[in-house]
Amino acid sequence: MMLLLLACSSSPDSALTDSACGAEEESWSLTWSSWGQGFFRTYCDACHAADTPQRFGAPEDLTFDTLEQVRQWDSRIRVRTLEQGDMPLGGGVHEDDLLLLEAFLDCAL
Ligand code: HEC
Repeated sequence: MMLLLLACSSSPDSALTDSACGAEEESWSLTWSSWGQGFFRTYCDACHAADTPQRFGAPEDLTFDTLEQVRQWDSRIRVRTLEQGDMPLGGGVHEDDLLLLEAFLDCAL
């Protein structure tokens, strides 16, 4: 599964793209409900959810409660989480989850 996902993110034109991006016949696919929502809840929502009690300075309008909001912030999420590694503040995302995040942003948005 990991190889398929990587194939998706590194070579969008490859024949594997459709299946890696969750074609209907795949038994598991990387979607908002299967993976994305859980990822943003786990790593980001403590500061970024609309209803979090303490944002620790995260901007009010910067929330990841829906796929639509994540889509809006796609490029900045890539920069801060995948490239600079300073979101979540201080980093700490498991390496497997970083690979999956990249595949998710490539495939599911
Ligand atoms: C401990 C609190 C905290 C957590 C957890 C957190 N953030 Fe943030 N985030 C902030 C704060 C504070 C800012 C505003 C200051 C800044 O940009 O550094 C911010 C800003 C951002 C920005 C906009 C900044 C820009 O460069 O345009 C993005 C995108 C972002 N966070 C993504 C994420 C993602 C994705 C996660 C989870 C993987 C996450 N954050 C987890 C506190 C947090």
